[in-house]
Amino acid sequence: MAKKLFVRTYGCQMNVYDSARMADVLAPLGYAPVEAPEAADMVILNTCHIREKASEKTFSELGRLSLVKEERRAGGRDLTIAVAGCVAQAEGGEILRRAPYVDIVVGPQSYHQLPELVARVARAGGQVLATDFPAEPKFDHLPEDGAAPGPQAFLSVQEGCDKFCTFCVVPYTRGAEYSRPVAAIVAEARRLVRQGAIEITLLGQNVNAFHGEGPDGRAWGLGRLIRRLAEIDGLRRLRYTTSHPSDLDDELISAHRDVDTLMPFLHLPVQSGSDRILAAMNRRHTAADYLRQVDRLRAVRPDLALSSDFIVGFPGETEADLEATLDLVERVGFAQAYSFKYSARPGTPAALMTEQVSEGDKTERLRRLHQAIKRHQLAFNRRSVGQRFEVLVERPGRKPGQLIGRTPYLQAIHFDGPRRLIGRIVSVVAGAAHGISLAGQAAIAEEVAA
Ligand code: 5AD
Ligand code: SF4
Repeated sequence: MAKKLFVRTYGCQMNVYDSARMADVLAPLGYAPVEAPEAADMVILNTCHIREKASEKTFSELGRLSLVKEERRAGGRDLTIAVAGCVAQAEGGEILRRAPYVDIVVGPQSYHQLPELVARVARAGGQVLATDFPAEPKFDHLPEDGAAPGPQAFLSVQEGCDKFCTFCVVPYTRGAEYSRPVAAIVAEARRLVRQGAIEITLLGQNVNAFHGEGPDGRAWGLGRLIRRLAEIDGLRRLRYTTSHPSDLDDELISAHRDVDTLMPFLHLPVQSGSDRILAAMNRRHTAADYLRQVDRLRAVRPDLALSSDFIVGFPGETEADLEATLDLVERVGFAQAYSFKYSARPGTPAALMTEQVSEGDKTERLRRLHQAIKRHQLAFNRRSVGQRFEVLVERPGRKPGQLIGRTPYLQAIHFDGPRRLIGRIVSVVAGAAHGISLAGQAAIAEEVAA
């Protein structure tokens, strides 16, 4: 009998990629995906540890799953529960103690071992833990084939981080920087395009620090990789995320000038506009450095839309520091941005800093920053009204007959059109700007030839 697998994904796009690869790894064992944990023989929670709230979700979800498992056992069947991702890596054995009904804890660098771990549980019962950083990268052990990705696909090219920002768990949960070889990336991109992808987003915790081995035996940077990938027939759009402001070399900047398929949008987290806070965060750049990078990018691609991440309430942050952040927002004019309250993460240097900011101040600062970001986003969207965009249609909208897609600048746009356009690039004129999205005009949706 076919077995059923349910994977729930939390957190970043890298986890979305990993979840798909875990399903690929388990497919040869007869596991087929299902939409609900109640219907599954195995459930994987692919978890996120970046902020406390994200982490807590793991344990509340595990509580619910333990009831599902009990019910199934009463009916004479079992449910295998696995915890993967960054909470698995950070909490490891603690999860097995707190949640004795969990069968497998597997870190982000070890999930290629899932078939063996599942077999071990089936054979001997008990709990298994796989959170070592293996000497051989997991990518060497992942299947070359995988399930069809849909029109928009993710491709991990780099993983881990050596930057050690003082607030961040990533260098501990994902480990040291590792870049995949160019040939393996090109082969995977070709496979994704063959299976129907027309847009690929290259992923890495520090994707622009990419330095994978090229076919010539030398280290290739991200700009060179992008030029190589742009040669693939049928690949219409490329994006990459997430970048560090200190790793933008000339090659990458010039790719933004020369490569048509590289979309004019960049997520470039700055975290704060205050040099004092940036130094305490160990970001290795100042606000002026950041603005200089923005200038370099806009010099070659004036229409580039920028996005960022911000943290408010980092230890020691004052009103003046927040003002500096708000000032940076005004100077750059982000098309969109994410902002978070600082969350102390166990094991990171900032968690031990003494001047923690009160929850009330964090809430108030987040509100102000949010307002500034929203204002810029709305202004950006308003400037788009009346313009024609090539839109990659992603899915049906909420209303009947409605479709939702993305412009090159990653704006969500909804418009009326037939469902057969899903997965295609169509030409749409933006009719109205809503806060975070655009409304397109109905009758003008037409497919754009490659
Ligand atoms: N608290 C709040 N936000 C955080 N981020 C990372 N660590 C923390 C933390 N401890 C944010 C950063 C990062 C994004 C992915 O999450 O802004 O860029
Ligand atoms: Fe975390 Fe900083 Fe590395 Fe980004 S660059 S993953 S914020 S340590």
